[in-house]
Amino acid sequence: MAKKEMNLMDKVVSLSKRRGFVFASSEIYGGLANAWDYGPLGVEMKNNIKKEWWKFFVQEKEDIVGLDAAIIMNTKVWQASGHCQGFSDPLIECRSCHARFREDHLLDKKCLNCGKKDFTEPRNFNLMLKTFLGPVENDAEANFLRPETAQGMFVNFKNVLNVSRKTIPFGIAQIGKAFRNEITPGNYIFRTREFEQMEIEYFIKEKEWQKSFEYWRKEMIRWIEHLGISLKNIHELDVPKDELAHYSLKTIDFEYKFPFGIKELYGLAYRTDFDLRNHEEQSGENMKYRDPETNQEYWPHVIEPTFGVERTLLAALIESYQEQEVNQETRVFLKLPFWLAPVKVAFLPLVKNNKEIVELTKKLRDIFKKKMNCDYDETGAIGRRYRRQDEIGTPLCVTVDFETLDKKDVTVRFRDSMEQKRVLISDLESFLNEENCFK
Ligand code: GAP
Repeated sequence: MAKKEMNLMDKVVSLSKRRGFVFASSEIYGGLANAWDYGPLGVEMKNNIKKEWWKFFVQEKEDIVGLDAAIIMNTKVWQASGHCQGFSDPLIECRSCHARFREDHLLDKKCLNCGKKDFTEPRNFNLMLKTFLGPVENDAEANFLRPETAQGMFVNFKNVLNVSRKTIPFGIAQIGKAFRNEITPGNYIFRTREFEQMEIEYFIKEKEWQKSFEYWRKEMIRWIEHLGISLKNIHELDVPKDELAHYSLKTIDFEYKFPFGIKELYGLAYRTDFDLRNHEEQSGENMKYRDPETNQEYWPHVIEPTFGVERTLLAALIESYQEQEVNQETRVFLKLPFWLAPVKVAFLPLVKNNKEIVELTKKLRDIFKKKMNCDYDETGAIGRRYRRQDEIGTPLCVTVDFETLDKKDVTVRFRDSMEQKRVLISDLESFLNEENCFK
């Protein structure tokens, strides 16, 4: 890994902790490895991602409807979906120090803990996170936390079809937590055991699959660009046949150039009719679609675009991180799109010991707080306060100063260019609206 790139990861991790994007989980008890909590700014960004994704892929589309299914489902779901049998990774154990690894993650088959090269034979380790329902911990009560949100969409296919009166092609979307007992989680929030997915199951006629796959490939690219991620940092990997998930006939991984390597950000899979067919076979319920024109029944095929919330956040933080030399100091700023920035506007009184200035700044903050997430900061020199806002990606700062009291205008300062301009208070709402602050 290039030193400069590793440096970038360290900088993003340190900024995230320092400014309250991400904290180590249960920190006061020494933490829990690879579990993370999202602080005041992290939760704003995650909410922005989910809200915008929903708008982009559900509300702005005619042919997608939403769902929010339970995390714990009937265990038969996981038998029918193939997860009980096929959702596993090859686990090997170092015979010397007993550290465990995913075989395909060890490049030169050398133990990352002790350096020896003596491993047990790989065995398939099921990744579903087991739990028990009710007070008795026996096999009859065993259940799983869902490893993907997708199955909620498949088992509800007929319910949604009946109430939405959609015709093929149409899709069901869901955002929610998923859990996997990963053998080697790591790389900060990249691979964790608890994470959130944003998924679409798009139901089509079999013969349409290539056309639909291509449509969704382009939609995913459109979303990636909307996130502010440059396509030069994205690589499309056509997943080799022998590495495809058990349900897939074709998958493209959208990989991002993370500082720790080029790794999967999102996926697009052609799941055929695998899931609906198996659910019909296992449940005995008819999971077919009746074509209103031909009256023929068939299992729709499925194209599945899938997105991880935390990987979106991580890629956005890395992509937006900027450093600039200004007056022999390094200015750090996150060049985030407006919609993604955790704070849209910071309201700053030039001085904190002038009652009129402070009260007017707070009044403006209170007016605009109803429309967007904004901040108020009166501590320290104004230059320092601008830098603090730059570091968390706040696109605009509004400063109230002595001139404001006479001229009824404020200074608006732009994060990316540091340009400043005066705007009349009476025009501030339309100005901020034009700058997309309220979106
Ligand atoms: N329903 C299909 C499915 O679950 P996947 O490629 O296994 O496909 C989809 O997961 C997305 O979920 C990934 O592209 C990634 O963004 C995210 N993801 C998967 N495993 C993850 C983990 N352990 N930690 C964080 N995100 C993960």
